[in-house]
Amino acid sequence: MTTLNEYLDSAGCSSELKELIGLISMQAVPIREAFINNQSYSGTENTSGDRQAALDVWSDEHITDALMRSGLVSEIASEEKPDIVRNPKAGTGFAVVMDPLDGSSLIQVNLCVGTIVGIYDNSNALSMGRDLKAAMYMLYGPMTVLTVSVGKGVYIFALKSGVYTLLDGPVKMPEGNLYGSGALKKDWTEKHSEFISAIEKDGGKLRYSGSFVADFHQILKYGGVYCYPATKDKPEGKLRLVYEANPIGFIAEQAGGLISDGKNDLLDIVPQKPDHKTPIYVGSRGIIKDLERIMK
Ligand code: AHG
Ligand code: MN
Ligand code: MN
Repeated sequence: MTTLNEYLDSAGCSSELKELIGLISMQAVPIREAFINNQSYSGTENTSGDRQAALDVWSDEHITDALMRSGLVSEIASEEKPDIVRNPKAGTGFAVVMDPLDGSSLIQVNLCVGTIVGIYDNSNALSMGRDLKAAMYMLYGPMTVLTVSVGKGVYIFALKSGVYTLLDGPVKMPEGNLYGSGALKKDWTEKHSEFISAIEKDGGKLRYSGSFVADFHQILKYGGVYCYPATKDKPEGKLRLVYEANPIGFIAEQAGGLISDGKNDLLDIVPQKPDHKTPIYVGSRGIIKDLERIMK
């Protein structure tokens, strides 16, 4: 069985990139433990709500601290921080972008959440997604699973007795019929509603959990599309280009899928600011091409 380290060596990763991917992926262990320690089941609304917020911040601080201590990272853009954090002492050009906990509202109902990370080697966290050196996500479900790409395809590892062991790869995203869309149906635009109706007419099967990373992982495996669209009141959508769309979109395209805002490939968009919001459609190539025809 191939381990993560063996795969990264075979993919020709530098020792620094291999060390950085290994360091980030191992934070899955303390993060997963934090779900129990930080999450009260007393059921009081505000406490668990605050804890939710606490878990977002806790995960962000935990990963940021590990990255800073490693000296491997020159800057970090995190969903939980208003500005980019810089580490002038770091001797590398690695810029990390991250959503430390995606889908965090689901922890208190024990559903699947994850950590999304992108790594650039050009000291610029606000680069286009296409320039990513590596993208990965840890998914905290029945198994702890790491999906990673260093630009040579997509590989999935499961954490077993402290070692990430190859589960699947190279992963190819099939055409499929799963679909999910965020935002309230009453706020959808005409074009988005037309796209969703076309999918439903074609026998689309609804899969939407409230965790982008978990919903995407199903699309990666079975094919289909995840949408968080522009709405009448929020033309920029809800999700963030830098820490959600770019790393996930990089992985999607490495597996043969596509990511779009309905008109453009999102990996070609230069982020204007760390929390740059964008409509997101990510999934099978054929479905995204149909979408862009409808949206044009
Ligand atoms: P996060 O927990 O990092 O804020 O992300 C939540 C995102 C995404 O993961 C999910 O698909 C979407 O928000 C759910 O939004 P709605 O609750 O509006 O459906
Ligand atoms: Mn998120
Ligand atoms: Mn988050």
